[in-house]
Amino acid sequence: MLKILGIETSCDETAVAIVSEDKSILSNQVASQIEHNQYGGVVPEVASRSHMRALDKLVDLALEESGVKLDEIDAIAVTSGPGLIGGVIVGVMYAKAIAASLGKPILAVNHLEGHALTARLTDEVEFPFLLLLVSGGHTQFLVVKNVGEYELLGTTLDDAVGEAFDKTAKLLGLGYPGGPQIEKCSKSGNPKRFKFPRPLANQKNCSLSFSGLKTAVRRELEKSEKDETLTCDIAASFQEAVADVLAVKTKYAIQEFLSKYGSGKSFVLSGGVAANQSIRGKLESVCSENGFAFHAPPIHLCGDNAAMIAWAGIEKYKLGHKDNLNFKPKSRWPLG
Ligand code: KG4
Ligand code: ZN
Repeated sequence: MLKILGIETSCDETAVAIVSEDKSILSNQVASQIEHNQYGGVVPEVASRSHMRALDKLVDLALEESGVKLDEIDAIAVTSGPGLIGGVIVGVMYAKAIAASLGKPILAVNHLEGHALTARLTDEVEFPFLLLLVSGGHTQFLVVKNVGEYELLGTTLDDAVGEAFDKTAKLLGLGYPGGPQIEKCSKSGNPKRFKFPRPLANQKNCSLSFSGLKTAVRRELEKSEKDETLTCDIAASFQEAVADVLAVKTKYAIQEFLSKYGSGKSFVLSGGVAANQSIRGKLESVCSENGFAFHAPPIHLCGDNAAMIAWAGIEKYKLGHKDNLNFKPKSRWPLG
């Protein structure tokens, strides 16, 4: 049974996992770097150093938990971009060192492809499928035709959704990362109190925009004295506006997918923002109204992790992909 060790260091999670070909996650170690919280965002240099300190320990934990010995691993899969370049370099150099010393194959995995293929690790999802990737740095509708074959249907013209959550949370004084804080605060807020804009919702395409929404939140905050009720009502109204826009655009994306591919009935939501229950709920309804099966990873596999990298490695390995040890880490690496 093929077993791959995955390594992820592209942002502020140091992660190591061991996944086998039969979709068993034998270990999934994630160390979130809390040292960034005091700065209200990720500090790249701090992240790189923290990855360097954490990796050895996490690999030991993954081997111990899985009961797998290092020489029983068939290949190493590592995130080689896109991401904060210092962190990506740390992960790639570490993975190359293990691969070279053990004489094992190495696979350079695109972080976004890790998010894209997670649904095939946790669910039965056939190609082609429609993907909405929503993370801190990316917001894209893509058709996933096969491993390594992507067609971009539309993307954000400005901020990514996760970025909009993080910036709005900062305005509201809710701390970093903002997504989970806004979702928590929204639970006691009134989502109908503020009618925030639904940017580009009346354009029948897959383009998105979130910077105006953030500005609308800032203007609302300037009007009145901040208290807990106001904060939670703004958080809930903001979250509702984001979920509404994503729902409308998913409808258009489904239409475009059907006009191009005719069949194929799976929609996948993935990336850190896919953890949001309100967004999941709205998109699940859109899918059922349009005859699409809705898939989203379990919450613990929405955010950055290495199980998704190991799984993407398994998919690539099975297709005969392997990389030379001289591949370069990349800060930018778009899909499609
Ligand atoms: O995929 P991810 O872990 O890292 C990147 O590849 O960017 O995504 C992180 C993003 C952050 O912006 C975070 O605020 C957002 O995902 N996020 C959420 C939730 N949990 C994480 N956004 C909305 N609701 C959540 N529950
Ligand atoms: Zn990510």
